[in-house]
Amino acid sequence: MDKLLTTEQVAERLNVHVNTVLRFIKDGKLPAARVGKEYRIKERVLLAFIGDGPAPHTGALVIAVANQKGGATKTTTSVNLAASLGKEGKKTLLVDLDPQGGCAVSLGLDTSELNLTIYDVLVKRDLDISKIIMETDYRFELAPSNIDLAGAEVELMQILSREGILKRRMESIRNSYDYIIIDCPPSLGILTVNALTAADTVLIPVACEYMALRGLKMLFDTISNVRAATNPNLNITGILATKYDARTLNSREILEYLQALCKRENIRMFEPVVNSSVRFIESPRYAKPLVNMHPELDGAKAYQLVAQEIING
Ligand SMILES: Nc1ncnc2c1ncn2[C@@H]1O[C@H](COP(=O)(O)OP(=O)(O)O)[C@@H](O)[C@H]1O
Ligand SMILES: [Mg+2]
Repeated sequence: MDKLLTTEQVAERLNVHVNTVLRFIKDGKLPAARVGKEYRIKERVLLAFIGDGPAPHTGALVIAVANQKGGATKTTTSVNLAASLGKEGKKTLLVDLDPQGGCAVSLGLDTSELNLTIYDVLVKRDLDISKIIMETDYRFELAPSNIDLAGAEVELMQILSREGILKRRMESIRNSYDYIIIDCPPSLGILTVNALTAADTVLIPVACEYMALRGLKMLFDTISNVRAATNPNLNITGILATKYDARTLNSREILEYLQALCKRENIRMFEPVVNSSVRFIESPRYAKPLVNMHPELDGAKAYQLVAQEIING
C-alpha cells in the first residue's frame, strides 16, 4: 500500500506553508483524497509532483464492464466484482450506467423511488456526483440509475463534447476511491461511449452460450474509435468467460475461440472462468451479490480470483 501523507507532512517535505499545499490541491496540481474535512496525499503522488519518481496513476482505476449484448453478464460481473474488491479492503464505487438499474435491483433497492440518479448527474451541470452516491451493505458504494437514464441518450445529443461528460463529472471523486466499476448498458450508444471515455480500462464479460460471439467485433471497433477520438490510453483489462457449462459443446467451443482470440490479439483472458450456475439467477432475489451470499461456490470464487488478478495488475 502507498503511504498516505497529511497536508502538514507534505508542507514540511516541500518546505512551504500548509496553505500553499492546500492551494496546490485546489488548483488540481497535487491530487489528493478527501478524508472528512482533511486531505491525504499518496507518497508516490508527492514524489511525482516533486519530479522525483515515475508519473503516478492518480486516483481510482476506472473499469468499464462492457459488451453490448444483453445477458452478457455485465451487471452480474460488475456487482460481484465490486463486492469482491470491497472484501479485499479496496474502496470501490459501482456506477450503474444502464437505464434498467440492474445494480440497484440486484441489491434489493427500489429504483423507482430514487430522487436523484446518475441521469441527473449527466444532465444537470450543477449536481455533484457525490450527492447521488449511496452506501450498500457490501463494502462498496453505488451511484444508481433508473429508467430516467433512458432519456439521457436523447438529451446528451444536445450537449457539446458529450462523450466526456461522465469523465468530467467523475473527476471530483476519482481520488476518493481505489476502483470505480461502470456497468454499461446493452448498446454501443452515447452512454457506453461515455463509460469508455471515462475508463482506464475495459473488462469484457462473454457468456459462453449461443450467439455470444456476435457483436464482439463491433465492440472492438467501438473501443478503437474511442481510442482514436476521446481516450487514447484506454486499455482492455481482459475477457472474462462466464456462464460456462463444460457439458455443452457450444460452451467449450466459445471458450476455445476466446482463448485463441486473446492469444492472437494479445489480450488477457482471465484465468478463472465463471461457471454457469442457477445460484447467479437466484442471488438478486435475495438482494445479495453471490460473493457475499455464497462465497464458497465456484462462481463466487471465480469473481474473487478475478478481483485479485485486477488488484495484482
Ligand atoms: N454464471 C452464471 N450462470 C448462470 N446465470 C448467470 C450467470 N451470470 C449471470 N447469470 C444470469 O444471466 C442473466 C443476465 O445477466 P446480467 O448480468 O443481467 O447480464 P447483462 O447485464 O449483460 O444484461 C441474469 O439472469 C443473471 O442472473
Ligand atoms: Mg445489465
